[in-house]
Amino acid sequence: MSSTSKTELIAVLDVDTREEALRIVGKCGRCAWFKIGSQLFTRCGPEIVHSLRQLGKQVMLDLKFYDIPNTVAHAAKAAAALDAGLFTLHASGGRKMIRAAREAVEGSNTRILAVTILTSFNDAALREDLGLHETAAEAVPRLAQMAVEAGAHGIVCSPLEIEVVREAVGPEPLLVIPGIRPGWSSKDDQERIMTPAQAARAGANMVVVGRPILNHEDPAQAVELILEELNA
Ligand code: C5P
Repeated sequence: MSSTSKTELIAVLDVDTREEALRIVGKCGRCAWFKIGSQLFTRCGPEIVHSLRQLGKQVMLDLKFYDIPNTVAHAAKAAAALDAGLFTLHASGGRKMIRAAREAVEGSNTRILAVTILTSFNDAALREDLGLHETAAEAVPRLAQMAVEAGAHGIVCSPLEIEVVREAVGPEPLLVIPGIRPGWSSKDDQERIMTPAQAARAGANMVVVGRPILNHEDPAQAVELILEELNA
């Protein structure tokens, strides 16, 4: 995707109930994409994906699959059967797992996003908890490149990793970026942030935004402001 292409907005549905999720979707009419993660999916199940698809919305199913290739292939098939436009898996599941997922979604409209190193890890935790003798800065582009070679259509990464990941994977793969905070919103617990405009300029294909929309007194206005920034 070239840097002149439009950066899309994905609004996060990190809520507990179907009613709350649909209320937000109703208010965010101008937003085409919504992210359903483990919180909402575990509460509401596949029905919530069906409901959004029936409303004409696109779904990023963020369940971060990580299992043996056969199991992930079946989960990928299930995501494709739900007509999720995107779903996530952990790059650290390895080439075989990612290849199996890719084969499972062939012929569908479902694309695979790989998560490299969770931003909650620092270098000490990578070493002490996982025995990984690489820094996150080294591991992220390496895992991104491997994931794309194995068949991932894109990568989820922090805004500050856009440049190194793009260099590692080339121009085609989608870069989907959380950790986005417009100038007018609170940082919450996000540290390594960019504004929507900065992320778009840095080469994000899609930005993932949660609390600045969810906690805004007028979510529709928050969506408008973010889309304006992305399209400026
Ligand atoms: O509310 P906020 O905009 O921080 O939400 C961001 C979403 O992106 C959350 O669903 C969070 O789990 C997810 N995420 C993140 N940082 C990552 C990967 C995913 O914030 N590195």
